[in-house]
Amino acid sequence: MANPFKPTAGMTPPVLVGRESDLDDFRYALDDGVGAPGRLMYLTGARGVGKTVMLNALGDIARDQDWLVIDETAERGFMDRLIRALNGESATRTVKYQTPGLTLDIPGGLGQATVNLGAVELEHGELSLDFRHAMTRRLDGMDESRRGILITLDEVQSSSIDEIRALAVGVQHLIRERRNIAFVFAGLPSLVEDVVNDDVLTFLRRAERRHLGDVPLPDIWSAFETTISDSGKNVDYEILNRLTQATNGYPFMIQLVGYWTWRASETAKRGDRITMEDADSGIRQAKLKLGDMVHGPIYDGLTAMQKDYLLAMSQDDGPSSTSEIARRLERSAQYASVYRAQLIKLDIITASDYGFVDFKVPHMREYLRSHAVHHQMRRTIEDMA
Ligand SMILES: Nc1ncnc2c1ncn2[C@@H]1O[C@H](COP(=O)(O)OP(=O)(O)OP(=O)(O)O)[C@@H](O)[C@H]1O
Ligand SMILES: [Mg+2]
Repeated sequence: MANPFKPTAGMTPPVLVGRESDLDDFRYALDDGVGAPGRLMYLTGARGVGKTVMLNALGDIARDQDWLVIDETAERGFMDRLIRALNGESATRTVKYQTPGLTLDIPGGLGQATVNLGAVELEHGELSLDFRHAMTRRLDGMDESRRGILITLDEVQSSSIDEIRALAVGVQHLIRERRNIAFVFAGLPSLVEDVVNDDVLTFLRRAERRHLGDVPLPDIWSAFETTISDSGKNVDYEILNRLTQATNGYPFMIQLVGYWTWRASETAKRGDRITMEDADSGIRQAKLKLGDMVHGPIYDGLTAMQKDYLLAMSQDDGPSSTSEIARRLERSAQYASVYRAQLIKLDIITASDYGFVDFKVPHMREYLRSHAVHHQMRRTIEDMA
């Protein structure tokens, strides 16, 4: 039997759990007409919380209403791709716009660099204008009382800030001209915050922010129930409880737990029944995969001090006292609080109680404990005592 669960980044899950009200709000914003606040929106949240699949779902809503939807990822050159898509051109044409990095790479003295910088700014002014023209042409060609254009931009980060500026300036003009458009962008919280707080882009600060987080356990329970039974297997109440608990409300974990449990039952050739054994083996496998796919990349992307902060936290079985963490790191409380704030902003930890922090990403503690450095720090702390 085909496995209904989809533990793959960006893959639409069988049931999009716990996001119904966000989707309803967007539907409302499209119906509400030009200038509705929900038409300018951004999604943030930790890795694997479901930003990309939300963008897909919002796109589907717009498509169902016969809107033109263009999905882009904020990598270099995305504006050129966007404009070409609007103009109905193929994506294989040579790139017309040079990225600022390339232009500035040209060797030369300060004089030349300044000239090049001027050219870059001009280029982005042009990009913005080209984008507006392409949008206007497209909108003019459609019955705007009925249809519009939605642009979704994923993986927003400050390295593409120039192009995002060009896009935002264009969108701002189009909104002012009361065109029938919507713009939704998404990314990791700290990266999106950098872009939204850019001085040039004050306009984006007025966008509606949706911080995607954990989803309610009862909704996960029902999603497991329907997905499993609709796909032809039986599963009882206790097992559903176990599967649900193992997710900790973390969306990616729903797919991982579901996928590996389903697979265990297929491997065991138990046909149409999912047993507690399948669930236990599925959960075990899901945790391992979560380490490879989520914890590893998160951890590797941190600075040395941020890593040490997490390792110090992983020594505790529950929430950690921030003053105790500072002591373990042999740093002042103020010094440690800088890293605490950074990790909270990255959605990796959370301030659980006054003076306490806890892991937000599920099973992160177990992952860190399986690291050799964890034991290294344990020894250091014991030596200190
Ligand atoms: N609300 C949800 N209900 C069920 N499954 C979900 C939900 N949201 C996301 N998923 C599943 O979680 C996984 C990760 O989703 P997605 O790739 O959209 O996350 P992301 O936030 O874009 O992550 P990243 O920051 O790495 O880009 C996918 O397998 C997806 O099917
Ligand atoms: Mg994504």
